[in-house]
Formats: sequence, structure tokens, C-alpha cells
Amino acid sequence: MNLPKIYVALDYHNRVQADAMVSQLDPQKVGIKVGKELFTTEGPDWVTEQVDKGFSVFLDLKFHDIPNTVAKAVAAAARLHVDIVNVHASGGVKMMQAAKQALSEFEQPPLLIAVTVLTSMDDDDLVSLGVGRPVNEQVVKLAKLSQQAGLDGVVCSAKEAQLLRAQLGSEFKLMTPGIRPASADKDDQKRTLTPAEAVACGVDFMVIGRPITQADNPHQAVLDVINEINPA
Ligand code: C5P
Repeated sequence: MNLPKIYVALDYHNRVQADAMVSQLDPQKVGIKVGKELFTTEGPDWVTEQVDKGFSVFLDLKFHDIPNTVAKAVAAAARLHVDIVNVHASGGVKMMQAAKQALSEFEQPPLLIAVTVLTSMDDDDLVSLGVGRPVNEQVVKLAKLSQQAGLDGVVCSAKEAQLLRAQLGSEFKLMTPGIRPASADKDDQKRTLTPAEAVACGVDFMVIGRPITQADNPHQAVLDVINEINPA
């Protein structure tokens, strides 16, 4: 499977805005990330429409439930022909194995990746949950658990990418948000990597939102990112 390196985050409430953005993107150059808000408003038929246009879709619904339910949910995602789907690693190894097993029934299963620790959480939040480890150690622990469960990779922050690449080997996929082209505004992202830095850190897939979706010319913004990754 030859997947795009860039997934554009479609952080929109409904299809009016999302369709306007998608119409400016080239499915040969980028994939799209569909999250909880857009999916809850527009549902699976809208996702299928994008797949039919040729877009690679990352369905970012972060499933977290009992193993049987998550297995059924990722299978439902696979039936939409999305290319990447995700779960919370904190759902545990049995949940992740069940999800992986459910996808093995498909001829071309999506990549199954895990979220480790949400970047909205800090060490104190983990303590309040009874987790004594600092965030960076918990991230590595959950990433290793995901790998042992047979998952294909993890979503990780820019600051974790290099460490995880070193700890998890070259085959395990890293998907990283918080990417900012050298010339772009950082918005509310605190730690960012440029596209070239992300590649140097071993990132396989970049989630990029506002630098593309709020650009005057989103198509050109995509070309600029691609050029930053592979200078002509
Ligand atoms: O606009 P921007 O490039 O910051 O968008 C990044 C996307 O990645 C958003 O959909 C955001 O919710 C998501 N994300 C993130 N940081 C994380 C996890 C997800 O920015 N740690």
C-alpha cells in the first residue's frame, strides 16, 4: 500500500466546509484525516464519497472500549475502505489484539495505529489517574505495548518522534501532528517540527491542519510542504 505522507486534518463541523476544502486538494498528493466532529455530523456515507474520489482516509475516531466492541468498530471502518484507523493503547493489549485480529479478515486491511498519552495530559494528570510514571515514559510503555499487540504504529507528538523511532525500530509507523512548515504560524501548537525535521526524525505520516486549510491557496501549501520534504 502506497500511502501519502501528508494527511490534511479536516477539523470542520460539516460537509459544507469540508467539501470546500477537499475540492482544493489532490488525492494523488495528500490524504485526509476525518475526526469525531465531522464524522458525527456527516457519517460513513460522506467518508465513502471521499474514498471514491480517490482520497486515502485516516479515520481518527480513537476507539476505546471492550475488545469485542472495538474489534467490531475497526471492522466497520475497514468496510468503508479507509486506509488508517486508530484506537487508544490504554484500552489494553487484549483490546488491541482483538482489533488487529478483526482486521486480519480483510484482504486490504487499514493500518491500525494507537494513541498513547494524549498531548493534552501532563505528569500531574497521570498522577491523578494513578499512573506514577512521567508522560514520556508512559508514552514509550504504551507504544511498546501497541507493538507487542501487533499494531502497525502510533500517533506521537513531535517531541516524542525521535525517541520512539529509536525504541521501536524502523518498521513501526509514526504519525505526527504539530507539523509547521518553516514559514508558517505555530497557532496553538507549542512544540512543532518542520516537515523536513519530521522526516529526519523518522516520521512516516504527518497530520497537517491549519497551515494547509487556512492557506490562501491550499493546493500550493501542499506543494510547498512536499517541496520542503523533497527539495527539487
Ligand atoms: O491545525 P493543526 O495542524 O494544528 O492540526 C493538527 C491536527 O492534529 C488537529 O486535528 C489536532 O486535533 C490533531 N492533533 C494534534 N495534536 C495531538 C493530537 C492530534 O494537533 N497531539
